[in-house]
Amino acid sequence: MEDNGLGSSNPVYLITGGLGGVGYSYADYLTQKERESTIILLGRTKESKLREDYRTRLAKISKTKHNIIYSATDIGSKGAVDSIKAILSSKGISVIDMVLHSAGVGAKSAMKDKTPGDIAQVIGPKVLGIENLLELAASIKIERLVSCYSLTSIIPFLGNMEYTAANLYLDELRHRAHPNVKQMLAINLNQISNIGMAVDFMKETTSNAVKTDNSVQSNEFILILENLIRAKAIKNITLSRYDIDKLINENIESLKRLKQNETNIRETVKITEENYTETEFKLAKIWSQVLGIEEIGIHANFFELGGPSLVATQVVSKINIQQYHNYPKK
Ligand SMILES: NC(=O)c1ccc[n+]([C@@H]2O[C@H](COP(=O)([O-])OP(=O)(O)OC[C@H]3O[C@@H](n4cnc5c(N)ncnc54)[C@H](OP(=O)(O)O)[C@@H]3O)[C@@H](O)[C@H]2O)c1
Repeated sequence: MEDNGLGSSNPVYLITGGLGGVGYSYADYLTQKERESTIILLGRTKESKLREDYRTRLAKISKTKHNIIYSATDIGSKGAVDSIKAILSSKGISVIDMVLHSAGVGAKSAMKDKTPGDIAQVIGPKVLGIENLLELAASIKIERLVSCYSLTSIIPFLGNMEYTAANLYLDELRHRAHPNVKQMLAINLNQISNIGMAVDFMKETTSNAVKTDNSVQSNEFILILENLIRAKAIKNITLSRYDIDKLINENIESLKRLKQNETNIRETVKITEENYTETEFKLAKIWSQVLGIEEIGIHANFFELGGPSLVATQVVSKINIQQYHNYPKK
């Protein structure tokens, strides 16, 4: 039998976000690598309500000779630890060979559209989820706890501060230890372009082709993960093909430009059309201030002009302030 690096002949794996891009890739790989194993997959969705692609994945993996268990358990919820313990106890399992914590929810990009519930579902799996897994370790021995998080912890995405905060929390895992967890590994991912939330993200970006060519692929990720598991000493790693220093500098520069546009308040703006209303002129002035441009058409698209979502929120607040000043004061 191939050495699984875990030292157990019938290993037990717990994968949070187990039907998602990262989680399922690893589960699928395990069914090919291991002779026999128990793989517990967690997601929030009830099995009967799984989306089509998740149902297909579960059906495929369940046909293998492995013991596959899917459980609708929100890893960030209060009942998560008891729910996992109940599954383990029903199978007579007292040791988990590896937990892959890959549950996650991407943040909505427009800040104004976010509800407290949206923010909670981003924070929940990462912050409360990892705490629940460590609580689980108090009663169940966990040989390895591998957690996946995002490069936004180093390079924040404007307007997605809850996602950044949640990932930053997981980044701190490298400084933590638990008496019942032998190895903890926190993997900071830039993007695995062919799976999971990166696929949707890349659809929205303009330089798609460049990013796809330049990204880690899921099969590479699995091999890197396996090597990291064997190199027991590594606690934290960032996986990216991009020049991180360059990305950080670009981010700083765009923040500086944003600030500069704020200070260079424009009082004039050229509107390309001949006829426009006073309200359209006021709005054009706000757009020119926040985007740092001198000329705008009244039908222009904010995002096509390069306006990021954080700047869109500035526009809304500036409009609100103007409206406030226009209200008749009592
Ligand atoms: N794919 C990438 O390139 C990439 C890049 C950077 C970082 N990452 C990180 O890697 C992790 C996995 O990403 P992914 O691409 O695999 O995402 P994904 O395809 O969207 O899968 C995430 C999975 O997590 C589950 N989930 C969400 N909240 C949960 C909760 N509270 N409890 C249990 N399960 C939950 C979802 O299923 P339900 O909806 O059924 O709950 C979903 O199956 C995330 O932490 C992400 O931030 C991924």
